[in-house]
Amino acid sequence: MTYREDIAKIRDELFAQIASQDDPGAVLRSDRLKGLFLSIKDQPSQDRASYGQLVNELKIELEEAILDRKNHTERRDPIDLTSPFDVNAPLPDLLGVEVGSQHPISQEILYMSDILQRMGFRVYDSREIDDQYHMFDTLNFPKGHPARDDYDTFQVSEQDESGMNFVAPAHTSTMQNRILTELRPLLEKDQPIAATSIDRVFRNEDVDARHEHTFYQHEGIYVSKGIHAGMLVATLQTFLEGYFEKTIEVRINPFYFPFTEPSFEFNMSCPFCEKSGCNVCSQSGWIELLGCGMIHPNVLKMAEIDPEIYTGFAWGGGVDRMIMMKHGIEDVRHFHSGKLNFLRQF
Ligand code: DAH
Repeated sequence: MTYREDIAKIRDELFAQIASQDDPGAVLRSDRLKGLFLSIKDQPSQDRASYGQLVNELKIELEEAILDRKNHTERRDPIDLTSPFDVNAPLPDLLGVEVGSQHPISQEILYMSDILQRMGFRVYDSREIDDQYHMFDTLNFPKGHPARDDYDTFQVSEQDESGMNFVAPAHTSTMQNRILTELRPLLEKDQPIAATSIDRVFRNEDVDARHEHTFYQHEGIYVSKGIHAGMLVATLQTFLEGYFEKTIEVRINPFYFPFTEPSFEFNMSCPFCEKSGCNVCSQSGWIELLGCGMIHPNVLKMAEIDPEIYTGFAWGGGVDRMIMMKHGIEDVRHFHSGKLNFLRQF
């Protein structure tokens, strides 16, 4: 027998074992295969290279056959033709590679956007660099207005045409003027403007368990004829009950923002203790959740919407804190820590 015939015979044996054994991978550790490798060095020098090549090719073929067999035997579950493809085709973890997952903030932003979309809101991205015109001027903060100090953020050295530095926006309200301007034609067709922007914002904060310099906000705006504050409260209540999957009580207190009049601080009953008092709500039963109000006439005018005809409401609030409350996360810094034992829980 030539060595080719020898190898072919062993090949047949090993393939038969792969087909019949419970642990087909054992073939790779078998004495038969090891023996072939050990015998390479004993071949006459003129055959040694091609012999070695044949043995190596055989090993690769065996590995493929083993994978094939494992894929077949591990997928005994009936195939559900109506499921997404990933249910029917689990990724074999053959290389010991871990499949990653979506970051909890991304998951929750999609979830919130989905609720608002179903309520009729269009979804907009915000920006990570913007001009001060959109972050302040269009929102009724004139230059030098003291309320600008509440939105202390980072700036880059590049400047816009008016000589103001571009900034990392401190709130998603920076999108209001763009959204109002883009959707203004809807009003002429007697349709409301309803939009949300849920995205990253920045502030010059001292970082601790409750404060991050980079965090997320959800913003909503709604404009049409005859809109009043009751609609604002009902919209937010519906959104929050959808997000926390609970009945939630809400209340508003007077507040101040330059871009709303009247402005409110919006409180919801604590979703954990249902107002009996716990650590999440500092024993008060209520949580100060976000800012909101009726859009200031000057903000509508800046977008060329006539405040004599149209009125609207807006709101804006932190996303991270909502996620922390929903999932019992105690420290906001976990989100950007890259800690796998945190991320694997989502
Ligand atoms: N932009 C405000 C902040 O970050 C929150 C806010 C309050 C947004 C009232 C609004 C609003 O749209 O109407 O503090």
